[in-house]
Amino acid sequence: METNSISKSILLLLIAIQLGCQLISCTVTYDSKAIVVNGRRRILISGSIHYPRSTPEMWEDIIMKAKEGGLDVIETYVFWNVHEPSPGNYNFEGRYNLVRFLKTVQKAGLYVHLRIGPYVCAEWNFGGFPVWLKYVPGISFRTDNEPFKRAMRGFTEKIVNLMKYEKLFESQGGPIILSQIENEYGALDKKFGAAGYNYMTWAAEMAVGLGTGVPWIMCKQDDAPDPIYHGGTNFGRSAGGPFITTSYDYDAPLDEYGLIRQPKYGHLAELHRAIKRCEPALVSGDPTVFSLGAHQQAHVYYSKFGHCAAFLSNYNTANATRVTFNKMHHTLPQWSISILPDCTNIVFNTAKIGVQSTRMTMLPTNSQMFSWQTFSEDLTTSVDDSAFTTIGLLDQVNVTRDASDYLWYIISVDVEPSESFLHGGEPPKLLVQSTGHALHVFINGQLSDSAFGTRENRRIRYKNNIKLRSGRNKIALLSVAMGLSNIGGHYESWETGVLGPVVLYGLDHGKRDLTHAKWSYQVGLKGEAMDVVSTNDMSSVEWVQGSLIAQKSQPLTWHKAYFNEPNGNEPLALDMHSMGKGQVWINGQSIGRYWTAYATGDCQRCHYNGNYRPTKCQVGCGRPTQRWYHVPRSCLQALELLLERAVPSNEELAMLQPRMVLLARGA
Ligand SMILES: *[C@@H]1O[C@H](CO)[C@@H](O)[C@H](O)[C@H]1NC(C)=O
Ligand SMILES: *[C@@H]1O[C@H](CO)[C@@H](O)[C@H](O)[C@H]1NC(C)=O
Repeated sequence: METNSISKSILLLLIAIQLGCQLISCTVTYDSKAIVVNGRRRILISGSIHYPRSTPEMWEDIIMKAKEGGLDVIETYVFWNVHEPSPGNYNFEGRYNLVRFLKTVQKAGLYVHLRIGPYVCAEWNFGGFPVWLKYVPGISFRTDNEPFKRAMRGFTEKIVNLMKYEKLFESQGGPIILSQIENEYGALDKKFGAAGYNYMTWAAEMAVGLGTGVPWIMCKQDDAPDPIYHGGTNFGRSAGGPFITTSYDYDAPLDEYGLIRQPKYGHLAELHRAIKRCEPALVSGDPTVFSLGAHQQAHVYYSKFGHCAAFLSNYNTANATRVTFNKMHHTLPQWSISILPDCTNIVFNTAKIGVQSTRMTMLPTNSQMFSWQTFSEDLTTSVDDSAFTTIGLLDQVNVTRDASDYLWYIISVDVEPSESFLHGGEPPKLLVQSTGHALHVFINGQLSDSAFGTRENRRIRYKNNIKLRSGRNKIALLSVAMGLSNIGGHYESWETGVLGPVVLYGLDHGKRDLTHAKWSYQVGLKGEAMDVVSTNDMSSVEWVQGSLIAQKSQPLTWHKAYFNEPNGNEPLALDMHSMGKGQVWINGQSIGRYWTAYATGDCQRCHYNGNYRPTKCQVGCGRPTQRWYHVPRSCLQALELLLERAVPSNEELAMLQPRMVLLARGA
């Protein structure tokens, strides 16, 4: 997502590709001023709701609230990686039920702007590309490359044909008035030169060839409109990365849980209404712009039928100013725009908030403390049948294909009994360089140390003492991916995992370089292979009842508890504040990764005055970036909660105690 600023929320159509309307009736078109629906130029207010970030049970409520907030159009990406998990195998179930989502929008009487991708600029895992796509021989993403174009055509056709079959295009009586491919083509041109240009031309022609009867648009970088109206949740392992939070709340008008966020929601609704009243003048021609003072301007729109609409701006960041416009006196508050749909009366001013604020409060549910059962990963036995051995260090995603966050890199190291460190000398040191995102070092089945990358720097350079014994030692490096990169030049080619060097220092013969030695690989945790998260009670896992304090020092432990669904229908969340890092499942469904990181940034007292910066008016500095994890009500049938706690957060961690909370709104 490029921006969530209010000013962009009315931006719609940028670069359009002409298409033939001969075969089907074209009721949506456009001209130099506006999109034209049924022969009438329109100003349409569009907001983004990404369907996989909420549950089908939430969709109708969210969409109705969007409608009441003044939206005409719901826009969404189509997320290739969730729909085509392996080549030619499609999934449109549950949260991925695109048709159901679009029909819900249609039922609400709203339009759809469908952004088929293939790239998704929305903090989504691997930018929405399926990971298998990277391993198609000879492929190069988003450029003039046959393997890529073949795969992209296959997916785009699949979606367009599905939409046609379900009669969802406006030309068929459906809600889709715009389709879009290739977000941010400007970036591509710069990146790939002629190959990028040829690809864009091909993409445009392919899109037109698919004949949807509604305009296709392509967006240039920085202009791509994606104002998030409801952000939602990065359930499962869908968050991009690394280190993108599970919450995708985005401070949007509808919060993560689908609740109305005031005053933003109401203020925007008033803005939308004011703009709608200006529509006849706005679509009629270009504005006349003139000065009203040193820092004040009028933008005035006229129609030939006598409509007049004006926008009076005051760019002075310190002082309100009195101006005269259309023979009337108006006071313009500092740093604001006033809207006059009839050129006489101000019906809206951006700086005047006429809506009461609300604040969410988290209330404990009546549910009892969780009573936990545990299952610890066995770290002493060697790798199982699925493991393999090879010379050298491999890229993590190449091995896991992103089926798991975890990859074990395991090596045996023989130590002579005569080594001087065994006789009172300095202990040896292990150096591990990794491209991320987190690393746990196990020596002979014991956690020795951990290291973490950051969002800004995925690289890890770990060097520390290790405890080896005489004879054979097992060094096991657990590399943890925390969401695959989703943005940046050629991000699809970035490597992940322990790529070396890995070097042992301080032995009697000097350093021992393990980088090109024989390594064994094991994908995922044992609990994943045993499917402990499934609700199937037939699984062979032996859960241990009892006190958690005893398990405190054991990393890689699975925790399970049963609970009753809290009464009512308020949204629910888990308080994971006291926890380390892991993933949470409710009845077999992953509600996301959790970990505790602390927000940094500029949380000084702030004022909305002046230009927008992403870091402006930040809140929550020094507090966990995420504490509450959304538990959709629809997950709660068999009532089972499971946590995989990869690594304890710290030694003070007294006890595992996530708490279930209800959300309530307070003034
Ligand atoms: C705002 O008004 C004060 C008092 O009249 C004046 O001193 C100041 O220069 C003004 N600031 C700006 C940016 O116009
Ligand atoms: C993936 O790994 C294989 C070896 O297992 C290697 O031959 C291939 O080049 C790797 N591909 C990429 C894209 O890293």
